[in-house]
Amino acid sequence: MRTVEWDYESRRLRLIDQRLLPGEFRYMLIDDYREVVTAIREMVVRGAPAIGATAGFGMALAARQSRARTVEALLSDLRIANEHLQNARPTAVNLRWALKRILDMAETYHGSVLDLRIAILDAAQLIADEDVRLNQEMALFGASLIDDGDTIVHHCNTGALATVDWGTALGVIRMAHTQGKIIHVLVDETRPRLQGSRLTAWELEQYGIPYDIITDNAAGYFLRTGQIQKAFFGADRVAANGDVANKIGTYMLALAAHTNQVPVYAVAPTSTIDLVTSTGDGIPIEERDQGEVLCLTYDGLQTAPKGASARNPAFDITPSNLLTAIVTEVGIVYPPFKRNLQQAVETNLK
Ligand code: MRU
Repeated sequence: MRTVEWDYESRRLRLIDQRLLPGEFRYMLIDDYREVVTAIREMVVRGAPAIGATAGFGMALAARQSRARTVEALLSDLRIANEHLQNARPTAVNLRWALKRILDMAETYHGSVLDLRIAILDAAQLIADEDVRLNQEMALFGASLIDDGDTIVHHCNTGALATVDWGTALGVIRMAHTQGKIIHVLVDETRPRLQGSRLTAWELEQYGIPYDIITDNAAGYFLRTGQIQKAFFGADRVAANGDVANKIGTYMLALAAHTNQVPVYAVAPTSTIDLVTSTGDGIPIEERDQGEVLCLTYDGLQTAPKGASARNPAFDITPSNLLTAIVTEVGIVYPPFKRNLQQAVETNLK
């Protein structure tokens, strides 16, 4: 059961509709790349690696939809689809990374139009398969940081639902549990869209990992009173200096953890590292609809006066000095991040 999967029988993209969880588990089948754009924007699928893989399959759909009879005409249609898909959400770099990987392959392809269509689907499938493998490798490195008896605070959803399968930070937690370590997770509910209480808690239920949901603003209390040994979260983009863009509230969590000498770990594949963006200041922060703040997402109950306005940045930047390490599929990266992240990315290129 993958979050993002190509259905070879119907030749459509199959996504778990995450807007309905935890109440209902339902798939959405998509056969038009423009619907992929909408699904990413409306968060049917979310989480940096998951939207990267989804965009890859979006390109496969665009190739199928195109009526082009020459490679050049197909490339022109793919470039248009690439533009639309890129703009679906701005912060997670995996989206651009996956699209660039596919477009670069297409631009240098030598063969027939028919073969190119097949090659694009193969490239998208490879991105999806790699994601699962890399997550498991990353999880093995990360699990070595977790001790028996640890209570871990976790922000947002970074599990199988945020990736193709297995997960990043939650994948690390899952691996530690699989290894037999006795752990407990404090799940930040993650306002405003409640990825923690809706999705992470749902996943932890399936894995049988003990947890409690806490309000985001309770994390400081638990950290200061010594009830948390480690903080784990994922990343939507890591700048060259190690600054991490992640779900709104990550910065406050990292500040509170760092102040209380609790180790802070970001977990992200090297596809999330953006060496072109030198610091977190260069990372675009998505601002979403204010309705997400003014209403409780799930039942649409308005929790603010009529006419109230709100600000809703979906991500924030955690400066690298608050991080103990960044866990990747090629190893655990410690400071100095600028040098060591570059090395991690280069290792992966080999
Ligand atoms: O707005 P979302 O739900 O897409 O945000 C997701 C996160 O912030 C995750 O923590 C991040 O993508 C890294 S986990 C794979």
